[in-house]
Amino acid sequence: MAVSLLYFLLVTILPQNYPNEPAVVTKIATALNDSTADGNVLFKFTVAGEASVIVIVRVRSNAALDRITSRLRCTGYLEIRSQPIITYESHARNLNVSADLTGPYEGTLQPENIYWFNLRVDYNNKTTEELLDIWKTEAESFLGSRKSGSVRAVAFKNLGEREVQLFINAPQPDQFDLLLFNTPIVQAIGSDIRAMSKGVLFLN
Ligand SMILES: *[C@@H]1O[C@H](CO)[C@@H](O)[C@H](O)[C@H]1NC(C)=O
Ligand SMILES: *[C@@H]1O[C@H](CO)[C@@H](O)[C@H](O)[C@H]1NC(C)=O
Ligand SMILES: *[C@@H]1O[C@H](CO)[C@@H](O)[C@H](O)[C@H]1NC(C)=O
Repeated sequence: MAVSLLYFLLVTILPQNYPNEPAVVTKIATALNDSTADGNVLFKFTVAGEASVIVIVRVRSNAALDRITSRLRCTGYLEIRSQPIITYESHARNLNVSADLTGPYEGTLQPENIYWFNLRVDYNNKTTEELLDIWKTEAESFLGSRKSGSVRAVAFKNLGEREVQLFINAPQPDQFDLLLFNTPIVQAIGSDIRAMSKGVLFLN
């Protein structure tokens, strides 16, 4: 089986380029289009209200990722942070979540009202076993809601870190907050979760 590595890239346009930000964003989109030989871009977003772009890319090697980021750096003054990730489905498989929930997501994100959540889970006072149990219950709940159609979302877990990147359609953000309160992981260890949220738009 061919190696397939996933990366989350956070590309931030630096202040030197603020006056021509739209042109730089277009160049970034073109550079990503020109990178098809090196990688398969799964998602690309701009962060609403900020001069940054998020790219989720599948590559065959770290060298291929380097070629993509080099191409991006030729577009302007950028800071690029790259994070290896795995799909949330493969995280769930590692936790032994049943196979009917861990297949590839067949739904799609709608272009309106997409939010990016970065969720970092600490576990003060929990054993690894307890934490894995909580993660598993959470994965079953999330993937179950998604399968039933009540949630439209894609998610990834940082490789080797207790951190999740979630992209979700939340037409009514206040109701999303309620949904979050009731997730198993927040119920179990809410005080150990640090969350960050931003609005995002598809970059076309
Ligand atoms: C990138 O490719 C897509 C699909 O082929 C095309 O619609 C889009 O205009 C291209 N964007 C740029 C900036 O080249
Ligand atoms: C998953 O199942 C395998 C095989 O039964 C077991 O060895 C492993 O510890 C389980 N992993 C978790 C996280 O429960
Ligand atoms: C850890 O658990 C003990 C006993 O349940 C409790 O007294 C203590 O406050 C907890 N510490 C933290 C950091 O949550």
